[in-house]
Amino acid sequence: MTDLTDYAHYLTPNYGVPPILMTEGQGCRLTDQANRQYLDLAGGIAVSALGHCHPELINALTTQAHKVWHLSNTLANEPAIQLAEALVKSTFADRVFFCNSGAEANEAAIKAARRAAYDQAGDEKHEILCFENAFHGRTIATVTAGGQPKYRQGFGPMPEGFRHLPYNDCNALLAAVSEKTCAIMVEPIQGEGGVRPICPTFFEKIRSACDRVGAALIVDEVQTGMGRTGHLFAYEASGVTPDILTSAKSLGCGFPIGAMLCTESIAKHLVPGTHGSTYGGNPLGTAVALKALSIINNESFLDNVRSLSERFISELKRLNDAHGLFETIRGRGLLVGGVLRERWAGKAPDLVSLGHEEGLLTLVAGPNVQRFAPPLIITETEIDEALEKLDRVYTRFTQTVAT
Ligand SMILES: Cc1ncc(COP(=O)(O)O)c(C=O)c1O
Repeated sequence: MTDLTDYAHYLTPNYGVPPILMTEGQGCRLTDQANRQYLDLAGGIAVSALGHCHPELINALTTQAHKVWHLSNTLANEPAIQLAEALVKSTFADRVFFCNSGAEANEAAIKAARRAAYDQAGDEKHEILCFENAFHGRTIATVTAGGQPKYRQGFGPMPEGFRHLPYNDCNALLAAVSEKTCAIMVEPIQGEGGVRPICPTFFEKIRSACDRVGAALIVDEVQTGMGRTGHLFAYEASGVTPDILTSAKSLGCGFPIGAMLCTESIAKHLVPGTHGSTYGGNPLGTAVALKALSIINNESFLDNVRSLSERFISELKRLNDAHGLFETIRGRGLLVGGVLRERWAGKAPDLVSLGHEEGLLTLVAGPNVQRFAPPLIITETEIDEALEKLDRVYTRFTQTVAT
C-alpha cells in the first residue's frame, strides 16, 4: 500500500513529509488512510470554500468532463466566457485573464501593471510598492513582491523594481510613492503573514496615492476572495476599488484555477501576444468555478458566513478567556487567527499537531499564529464540535507543550 515512506522517497523535500495521508473528503470532514476522521478548519489553506466533494461541483466537473477537457487559447470555450462575464458582473472589473494559481494571477497583475505604465509613461515608471510580511506566491517575481525574505533566500538574483514598506504605515507609504510608482500591491488581510487585516485609512491612502501618481492598485484576494470574509471579495467592505484584483484558491474550490480581474484601462494594454497560459481558461476549471461562484455570490450564503464568523470568533474568545493562550484573535469572516502570547512564541505548530491527535485540522500563519480557514459551508453544530476539540487541544497545550 502507498504510504508516507513512499512520499518521503519520491517527492521533493520542500514540504517536508506531511503527518497524515488523506484518502477521502466529504463536506467539512476528511478521512485518512487508517480511517480516522478529521474535522476540517483548514480547508486546504482557504481553498475548499464549499467543503469536499460538493455534489454541485462534482456535477459541474463531470458534466464538462464528458464534453471537452482542453482546447488551449487558440480556441474559445463556453464556461470560460460565462465565468468571465459572471466575474465582471459581480465586481469592479471589466475584463478577466485566466490562469491556474494565485502566483500566476499575481504574475499577470504585475505584468499588466508594468505594461500599462510602460505604454503611458515609458520604462522609468516600473516600481512596484509592496509590503513587509506580504505573501503573493512562490514564483521568482512573486517571492520578490512578497515581504518575507526567507522565501527569496538562495534564489537570486531577483527581478528589479520591487520595494517593501511596512504594512499599515501611512507615513512610510506617502514618503515612498513617486512618479516612478507603477503599482501598489496589497492583501486586504495578510493571510500567510499572520492574519493581519488592513487598516481602513491605510487602504484609502493607498488608493489616493495610486490616483495621484497614476499607479495601479493591485489587490491580492487569492486568500480573502470568494466569500471568505463574508463578502464576495474583501475590498467590497472597504469602499476602496482596485484597478487589478487577483483570485485563486476558493475560486475553483479545489480545482486549480486563478484569475486576474482588471479595468478596461489596464486590460487594453494586454494586446495580443503580451501574455498567456496554456491551461488558463481551461473548460474544466472554469466550469467548476462558474458553479462555485453561483453558489457563493448569493446574499443569504454571504450572510451566513458573517453569522458563522460571529459565532466562531466570539466562542473562540470565550475559550481563550479560559485558557489565556492568545494575546489577540483577529480576522474577518472565516479567516481567523489567534496570535499566541509572547510566552508561547513559536509554538503555533504544536497547536496544529495536537489538533491532529484530536481529529481536528487547523493551520498556522507563521510560527506565532494559529489560523482557521474552514469551508464556508461549515454548520453551527460543526463549529461547536470544533470548539470542543480546541478546548481539549488548549488544555493539553498548556499542560504539556507550554511547560
Ligand atoms: C494572498 C496570496 N497570494 C498568492 C498566493 C499564492 O497562491 P498559489 O499557491 O495558488 O500560487 C497565496 C497562497 O497562499 C496567498 O495567500
